[in-house]
Amino acid sequence: MTPIDEIKSRLDLVDIVAETVELRKSGRSLTGFCPFHSNTKTPSFVVFPETQTWRCFGACADGGDLFSYVMKREGSDFRETLENLASRAGVILEEATPQQKAKKVEQEQQADLLEAAADYFHNLFMHAPQAQYAREYVKRRGLSAETIRTYKIGFALNRWDACRTHFDTQGYSVKELLDGGLLTHNEDKGTTYDRFRNRLMIPIRDVNGRYVGFGARTLEPDGIPKYLNSPQTDLFDKSRLLYGLDLAKRHIREEGQAVIVEGYMDVISVWQGGFRNVVAQMGTALTPQQLQLLKRYTKKFVIALDADAAGIRATMRGLEVARQTLDRTAEFRFDPTGLVREEGRLEADIRVVMMPEGEDPDSIVSRDPAEWKTLIDQAKPVVEYVIGVMAAEADLNDPKAKTRVAEQVIPLIRDVENPIEREHYWQILARTLRVDVQALQRLQVAKKGGRVVAPAKPRPVVDGTKKRRQAPPPPPPPARILNSGRGRSAAVRKREENFLRECLDNPLLVRRVNRMLSEQNAPILNEGDFSSSEDQALFGLINHQQSLGRVAPIIEMWDSLDAILQQRIRNLQAQSGLASNQTERRVERLVLSVLDWRQEKVTRLNDELKQLIHHARIEGNQTLVTTYTKEQLTLVKQLQQIYRAKGAMSAVARRRSEEKI
Ligand code: UTP
Ligand code: MN
Repeated sequence: MTPIDEIKSRLDLVDIVAETVELRKSGRSLTGFCPFHSNTKTPSFVVFPETQTWRCFGACADGGDLFSYVMKREGSDFRETLENLASRAGVILEEATPQQKAKKVEQEQQADLLEAAADYFHNLFMHAPQAQYAREYVKRRGLSAETIRTYKIGFALNRWDACRTHFDTQGYSVKELLDGGLLTHNEDKGTTYDRFRNRLMIPIRDVNGRYVGFGARTLEPDGIPKYLNSPQTDLFDKSRLLYGLDLAKRHIREEGQAVIVEGYMDVISVWQGGFRNVVAQMGTALTPQQLQLLKRYTKKFVIALDADAAGIRATMRGLEVARQTLDRTAEFRFDPTGLVREEGRLEADIRVVMMPEGEDPDSIVSRDPAEWKTLIDQAKPVVEYVIGVMAAEADLNDPKAKTRVAEQVIPLIRDVENPIEREHYWQILARTLRVDVQALQRLQVAKKGGRVVAPAKPRPVVDGTKKRRQAPPPPPPPARILNSGRGRSAAVRKREENFLRECLDNPLLVRRVNRMLSEQNAPILNEGDFSSSEDQALFGLINHQQSLGRVAPIIEMWDSLDAILQQRIRNLQAQSGLASNQTERRVERLVLSVLDWRQEKVTRLNDELKQLIHHARIEGNQTLVTTYTKEQLTLVKQLQQIYRAKGAMSAVARRRSEEKI
C-alpha cells in the first residue's frame, strides 16, 4: 500500500469535511453547502462515503478525493498536504533523498538569512539618521506606518560594506551572503561588496511568507535601474513568485477574485486603499507557474496592467500564457470571452482592465479608492480587450490591415460558446472595423497551429424537452459492465496505471494522445482524469515535461523527484502492464483506454446522481432536484461525446487496417 492509500484508509473524508461543513445524510451520500463558493441557498456539495470522494454540483463544478479537498481548503500544495495528513493519520513517510534534504536545509537557511536581512534593513529605515530621506520619500508616496510595518519596508545604507560587516559579525560566511544575493562579486576587480546601496528595500516573500529576496528601489529621480532585484536563485525564482500573495491569498479566496498588477508599489498602495486581493507579477510576463499558484485560490482573474505600450504587450502576452496554461493543463478550456468553461460550466474567468493613460493602480488608488473599485468592476472580457488593442494598433483605412485584425479576432469569436455573446462580439468587431457583420462572417479564416480540425459538423443537440430529459443515456452504450462499484473502480485504476507507466518512458505520448482526443472533440487529458492524488501529481509532472518538449523518460530526473513520486514510480514499474510494441497502434489504444475509463467514471457519477435526485424528490426539495438534473444532463452529454469519440475511433482503426491490406 502506498502512503497515500494508507492515509486514505485511516482517515475518513466525511470527518475531514465535517470539520468545517455541516453535512446531512441524503441516501448513501451526505450533502451540505459548498465551502469553496458562497451560496447559502442550495446545498450543492456532496460527499460520497463509499468512494471517499466529493463533488460540488454548483458553481465550482469540481470534485476529487481527500487530498484534493484538503489542498483546496488549505490552499496548500501536494507535498504540504501529504505531510499534514500523514501526521494526522500517523503514517510515516519515506524520507526524502539526501540531496533533497540537503537542498531543503540550505534553502531554509537562506530564507532565515533573508528574513534577518529584512529586519536589518527595516530597522535602518525606521531609525537610522541616514534614512531620513528615504522616510520622507515614503511619506510623500503616502504610505502609512501600518503599511510600512506590514510590508516591512527597509533602507540600505549608502556604503559598500555595511551589510557585509553587519552579517559578518553575526557569523555568516561570505559565501552565504553571496548565495543569498546580499553581496555581489566583481570578477575583474576581484572585489566583493554590498549589492544594495542607498535603496528603498522591499522584501519579497513567497506564498508561505518565507523571505526569498528583495526589490530595491532607487531613491534618485533617474536612478538606474529603478528596481534592483535579488539575483535568481532556487528560492528567488521570479517566474514562480507573485509579490504580495502571502498576504493576499486569504482575501483572494474570500472575495473570489485575484487582481494582478504590475509593480510592488501598486500592490502596497492598493492594499492600503482597502483592496486586499492584489498581487504583482514583478516585471516579468505572467507565467504559467504564477497562474497555477493563483488557481489554488480562485478561478477569477482581473489583469490590471499599465496603459503604456509595454503594459499592453505584457497584457497580451499574459493572456496568451493564460490561454496556453489553461488549455494545456486542460483543467480549463479557454473560451475567448475569458470565460473558460469545461462542458459548459464556468472554470475560469479572465478579465482585463485598461488603466487610464499615464496612470497605474498606485496613482489611481492614492487619488481615490472608489475610482479603483469602479475600474475593476468594469473589467472587460478578453475578446473585447483584444479587439480594442488590435484596432487601436491598425490603420483602419487600409482594407488589408482591417482584414488582418479580422483574421486574428474571428477565431476567438467563433469559439465563444454562448450564441448571444457570440453575436455581441460579431457586432463589436463589425462596428470597430466599420464593416458589415455578414461580410465578416463570410471571411474564411483558417485555424492556426496546423491542427486537424474536423469539418464543422453540427454539434448534436440534446434538446430540453421533458421526454428527452428523462430518457436514459442515449446511443448504444457498449455492453455495460455489471460489476460492483468497487470492481469497476479497480478496473479504472488499472487503466490509469497502464497509461502512466507508458508515459513515464515517453512523456511525448501525452501530446499524441491529446492530439487524437481533440480530433475526436474530446477534452484533452487533465489531472482530474486520474483517481488518486499521487497519480494526479505524477501526471502533472509528465504533462509539464511534455509541454517543455522533453522526450526523456521521467526516470532521468529521479533525484529531483519528490520521494512520494519516486515510490509511486517504483510501484508502477514493479507491476506488469500491457506490453505493447506496436507504436502505431499504441496511441490509438491509449486514447481508447482513456475514453473507456472516462466512461466508467461518468457512468458511476451518474448513478450517484440518480440516487441523489431520488432522495431530493422524497424530501420535496425542488431546487436540489433541478440542480442535480441539470448536472445529469451535462453527464449525459459527456457520455454521448465519449460514445461518439469511441465510435469515430474504431472507424479510424478500421480504416487503418483496410489501408494495410
Ligand atoms: P513600475 O515602474 O511600474 O514599478 O515597474 P512601480 O512598482 O509602479 O514603481 P514606482 O511606482 O515607480 O515606484 C513594474 C515592476 O517591474 C519591475 C518591478 O517589479 C516593478 O514593481 N521592475 C521595474 C524591475 O524589476 N526593474 C526595473 O528597473 C523596473
Ligand atoms: Mn508606479
